[in-house]
Amino acid sequence: MENRKTIIEGRGLERYYHRGNETVKAVDGINIDIRTGEMVSVLGPSGSGKTTLVHLLSCLDVPTGGTLSVEGTAVTGLSEDELAGVRRKTMGFVFQKFYLLPTLTVAENVELPLLFLREKPDRALTLDTLRKVGLEDRANHLPNELSGGQMQRAAIARALIIKPRLLIADEPTGNLDSANSKSIFDLFRNLVRDQGISILITTHNLALGYLADRIITLQDGKVLKEERQPIK
Ligand SMILES: Nc1ncnc2c1ncn2[C@@H]1O[C@H](COP(=O)(O)OP(=O)(O)OP(=O)(O)O)[C@@H](O)[C@H]1O
Ligand SMILES: [Mg+2]
Repeated sequence: MENRKTIIEGRGLERYYHRGNETVKAVDGINIDIRTGEMVSVLGPSGSGKTTLVHLLSCLDVPTGGTLSVEGTAVTGLSEDELAGVRRKTMGFVFQKFYLLPTLTVAENVELPLLFLREKPDRALTLDTLRKVGLEDRANHLPNELSGGQMQRAAIARALIIKPRLLIADEPTGNLDSANSKSIFDLFRNLVRDQGISILITTHNLALGYLADRIITLQDGKVLKEERQPIK
């Protein structure tokens, strides 16, 4: 367990916002590691810094203090293009809103990231990816023919198509009812177990958050507590 490869290593991460004379310490000195094959959830009340932290770890935002490495490469100080390269190589993203394009089929939506990478879609790979999220029989449907839970599964397949080492999901069940939310978390657990990827999730839902291997609770931009579940 302890010699697992580290995918993300953040040390003393800070993200301060300045508004006139006021400073908002959205992330205030956080140390965080994410290793291969683990599911980590970030809990905490609204405004505690979950999204800000996730944006830093996703290289979508730059810390105002501290250091961040992704798969052993120090990313602090890299250019916008270089950061985009790190993101594409390592990470897939899932959002609260699914952001599926309404005029494309499920399969075409899943293949979109490949177009941005100028890679030719391979329908067999797409169907295989849809099978991993339990949606192989919806490949040729349009997004508005899916339930909310199915839309989020399609969005997860779209994140998986580039074979990321780390899936990052900010409030992925924020728009879903409790049964669909649970089934998305079960899917995440299965992906960690079967595909060996790592998953970082933020959630307001304590019960779901505690399905992760490690639970990090934030308060006022700091880690209030970090817990580890017994190995299942
Ligand atoms: N662009 C910004 N400018 C100034 N302050 C900001 C900015 N973005 C976020 N903040 C502040 O940083 C703090 C953390 O916000 P963040 O969005 O990370 O919280 P969160 O834990 O994700 O909350 P929620 O559960 O509501 O999504 C909040 O106090 C917020 O008001
Ligand atoms: Mg948030």
